[in-house]
Amino acid sequence: METKILSGITVANSFYNDVLSRITHLQKHELNPGLAAILVGDDPASKIYVQNKVRKFQSLGMHSKVYQLESNISENELLDIIESINKDPKFHGILVQLPLPKHIDNQKVIYAIDPKKDVDGFHPENIGLLSVGNPRFIPCTPKGIMHLIDFYQIDLSGKHMVVVGRSNIVGRPMSMLASLKSFGNTTVTLCHSGTKDLSSFTKEADILVAATGMPEYFDESFVKAGSIVIDVGITRLDPPRNDIYLVGDVNQDTVMGKVSAITPVPGGVGPMTIAMLVENTVLSAEMVLNS
Ligand code: GUN
Repeated sequence: METKILSGITVANSFYNDVLSRITHLQKHELNPGLAAILVGDDPASKIYVQNKVRKFQSLGMHSKVYQLESNISENELLDIIESINKDPKFHGILVQLPLPKHIDNQKVIYAIDPKKDVDGFHPENIGLLSVGNPRFIPCTPKGIMHLIDFYQIDLSGKHMVVVGRSNIVGRPMSMLASLKSFGNTTVTLCHSGTKDLSSFTKEADILVAATGMPEYFDESFVKAGSIVIDVGITRLDPPRNDIYLVGDVNQDTVMGKVSAITPVPGGVGPMTIAMLVENTVLSAEMVLNS
């Protein structure tokens, strides 16, 4: 079987083409969608992620600012900065890049973000709205995955999606979103590190979403023939292997020819996450315009 490559780069570029008219419309009303990105410490991977996000905003003519903060900043200082951005009308979105240093309570920080500017969709108000089927800001990675599947006209309705990984960033919101009638209408199984005999679940999946951070863990013995594989993981190989620097959670060489479609790493889910951050920030500015 030929395995189709689901390119996040292609889909994200198509999205950027479409979103430009919405940005122009907002700008005509003196509303330039703006993102405040908070980066605490100097973890190299987080730095690159934030840079990539902000560069995309700049290339679309949108406002953005990076708050690069020292790793030893106190929790209270960070909360004060968030509070000032909450009040600043130039910013429609606030992103606190995770993970945060150990001395800072993630939950306190996420709860401090104005839910109407929470373009990551991590605040419990937004997770709650998603869980009752009335989403405001949907977390960017699950939203991007659904957008990608939609672009390639893959019909999910009635299919069985197996999500591996229960993080608040990807796995859990993915499972909620895909089961909504208005989004995926799929039957969802959520697996995690406590799941016994994991492959007995993944082999039943019509769509497998691998979001564990375990590099190249899922080989051909985990997938059903003809299924669709969404590879969310991204791990840097050090040292690189034959010029391969980044790998996903899926051992992609071994599943090629067995599955019907797969997202590459890089160039699959990653570009979609950034595109949906743009979409959520535009949406936030549109909510201000229409309020
Ligand atoms: N860390 C890993 N993924 C994400 C994300 O989507 N948003 C934020 N804020 N931090 C992350």
